[in-house]
Amino acid sequence: MDKIVIEGGKSLHGEIRISGAKNAALPLITATLLSPGWHTLHNVPDLRDTRTMLALLESLGVVWERQGDTLRINSDKLAGYEASYNLVKTMRASVLVLGPLLARMGRARVSLPGGCAIGARPIDFHIKGLEKLGVNLTLEQGYVDAQVKERMEGNTIYFDIPSVTGTENMLMAAVVAKGTTVIKNAAREPEIGNLVDMLVSMGARIEGKDSDKLIVHGVEELKPAEIAIIPDRIETGTFLVAVGATGGELTLTNCNPAHLPSLFEKLRAVGLDIEAQDDAIRVASNGSIRSVDVKTMPYPGYPTDLQAQIMALMALGNGLSVIVETIFENRFMHVAELRRMGADIRIDGHSAIISGKERLYGAQVMATDLRASASLVIAGLAAEGKTEISRVYHLDRGYDDLANKLSNVGARIWREKE
Ligand code: EPU
Repeated sequence: MDKIVIEGGKSLHGEIRISGAKNAALPLITATLLSPGWHTLHNVPDLRDTRTMLALLESLGVVWERQGDTLRINSDKLAGYEASYNLVKTMRASVLVLGPLLARMGRARVSLPGGCAIGARPIDFHIKGLEKLGVNLTLEQGYVDAQVKERMEGNTIYFDIPSVTGTENMLMAAVVAKGTTVIKNAAREPEIGNLVDMLVSMGARIEGKDSDKLIVHGVEELKPAEIAIIPDRIETGTFLVAVGATGGELTLTNCNPAHLPSLFEKLRAVGLDIEAQDDAIRVASNGSIRSVDVKTMPYPGYPTDLQAQIMALMALGNGLSVIVETIFENRFMHVAELRRMGADIRIDGHSAIISGKERLYGAQVMATDLRASASLVIAGLAAEGKTEISRVYHLDRGYDDLANKLSNVGARIWREKE
């Protein structure tokens, strides 16, 4: 197993190319199950999670080939409909095969994910939504067994809370259902817009892209897609926050500044100079870090996937900061590790109260989940001395080549065998 070693205190200077978004690549890969023929996906990041998703599809009979960041996928010979516990337990997004398998085969058997490092994360919205479309679902031995007699039927689905993968599963089921499906209080994350674009290019009829009300008129057949994965807004945000913590200036290319409205607001309040162009962002620090309050919300609010990273920055702020996590009940696993680096953070329910310190100190720390790992990298880059982050496989789930990208812009960071 690898660990990441960082000698902190170097500011970042240069250019980084942003990869395709993990949370768009995963649903778009599963959407290839909807139609036979060769699908082509461009700008696909090479991550542990995308590899896991391809292994899951392979177990269903799918073949694929990768050339650089282009992935070609063919599901002509689908032979199975089960996502086993072994795969789902390593990656909850495996549940995204539920909608497309039902659409294509009328049958799916998917292991219930169980809890994970950031919370209980049930899939009851997925189940209730599919039931509304006429799917018969039973729970047995930890699996959801889903069957539909003939064709799913359109209906109105309302989410109590906007769910990202819930909305994606409903979309992928509803595109071939009989009649019209309306998804109310749908999630509006840009990754869903990317999926809508792919489905529409396959022949689906969807209205309301990027809004909280999606209207899907079912069609009988879909054709293969060719589409590019949108840039990863969380990777982009992670580098922006890193510049805040280390100082320096970076240009991020191949990204979409329009996808980070709330982060820009916060980082400008912190004191960063951010200049957005069409598909690039220039960020510069003047060295000062003003403490700000943050509350995570569904898009376009501040993303929960950038909560841990900004906490590392606030640990170096000039005053007091309150960070409220409203999406996941247990997403403060990074706090104990940041404290080991000298951060002053107190947890009170869903809030973290951070009293900024002049400096953090390198330490041996442990990655507990993907975004927590990114926050430890940011803290390590800014800290005095050496930081060693173990359990780097969490980071590899969602960041494409992070250590190299940072080392190319001046950070002293490398991987070592543990
Ligand atoms: N929820 C339910 N029931 C459900 C589904 C969700 O109660 O059936 C609750 C969740 O427990 C949570 C809230 O609804 O409190 C929102 O969860 P959501 O369903 O939107 O999360 P998700 O779809 O499981 C995706 C991302 C996460 C990201 C969240 C929130 C993917 C593959 N994953 O998860 O990404 O944090 O949306 O934006 O898109 C990450 O990349 O590190 C990551 C965890």
